[in-house]
Amino acid sequence: MSDFFPILCFDHLEFYVGNAKQAASFYETLFGFTNTAYRGLATGSRKVASYVMEQGAIRFVLSTPLSPDHPIAHRILKHGDHIAVIALAVPDAVQAYKQVTARGAIGAIPPTIAEDESGLMHYAAIHAFGDVLIKFVDRHAYEGVFAPEFRPQPIARNGGVGLQTIDHVVSNLELGAMERWVKFFAETMGFQLLVQFDDKAISTEYSALMSKVMQNGSGMIKLPINEPAIGKRTSQIQEYLDYHQGPGIQHVALSTKNMIETVMQLHEAGVNFLHVPMTYYDDLDARIGKIDEPIDQLADLGILVDRDQEGYLLQIFTQPVEDRPTLFFEIIERRGAQSFGEGNFKSLFEAIEREQALRGNL
Ligand code: FE2
Repeated sequence: MSDFFPILCFDHLEFYVGNAKQAASFYETLFGFTNTAYRGLATGSRKVASYVMEQGAIRFVLSTPLSPDHPIAHRILKHGDHIAVIALAVPDAVQAYKQVTARGAIGAIPPTIAEDESGLMHYAAIHAFGDVLIKFVDRHAYEGVFAPEFRPQPIARNGGVGLQTIDHVVSNLELGAMERWVKFFAETMGFQLLVQFDDKAISTEYSALMSKVMQNGSGMIKLPINEPAIGKRTSQIQEYLDYHQGPGIQHVALSTKNMIETVMQLHEAGVNFLHVPMTYYDDLDARIGKIDEPIDQLADLGILVDRDQEGYLLQIFTQPVEDRPTLFFEIIERRGAQSFGEGNFKSLFEAIEREQALRGNL
């Protein structure tokens, strides 16, 4: 059932935001991204302005509508600032689109060629859950900075904070929708179920959730999906669904090769992380075994650790990056471990619930 069509890597994530100019500054100043390309009125793009933000192999595109009747404006009205498009780099966008639509995917953008003096870019898109699009991008015949209509930005490259790749992208679905979308990723996209967690594995005093991690054949694309389970109070997934007004992308994990250095820089820049109680670190070495990083330094920075059969991982979670409690980021360093930090789920969810309570939503 696997790999009806090859996927090279994440190409980019496109965010729809109310003010892309200010959002670009946020990702530059706080997260160390560099604005590498732009489209807007000055480049002849009359309806949308977009900023391409890059760091390592990560690419975010921040797009804002220039009038209230643009479809993006409607999406922002409903969801607030959010990630609207998961773009996958493929060797052949036409083939990818044909394969998945033949297996039931609903087309959103039929195979299209965009062209400028830098060459041809092929792309197409299908609908996923909620308003999310999955886009296939084939840039093998394109040598420009991002895409036709975009102009390179003549600014010095930000040194960055060491972020390297998109490790995984997690979505929240409404109660009862998970099986349908697991089936979509398996049968339509050719992904496999890598691992699943039921509500017994992921529950706290107040809320529970179920999670399944779908992965493509090469393992490059990991898309965990969550569904709320009935808890005593509003689960964090339900809080997301209430404020996002439906299913959508909950968090993006960005990898680093030097967790301590990256997190120190993010702290210094003003990124707000979820608060981890000091008791988490009390018996950490007994739970985790030997690791290279000094535990007191991890405790100072609030970095979590987990171990599986293949090694360990370091991870930390930001607070939501909008006023609505929706999208947040994870920073992750894999030291062999290929899992998702199951050992931290309980402390993580308790930390999220403390924030939920502060928001009056628990
Ligand atoms: Fe994650």
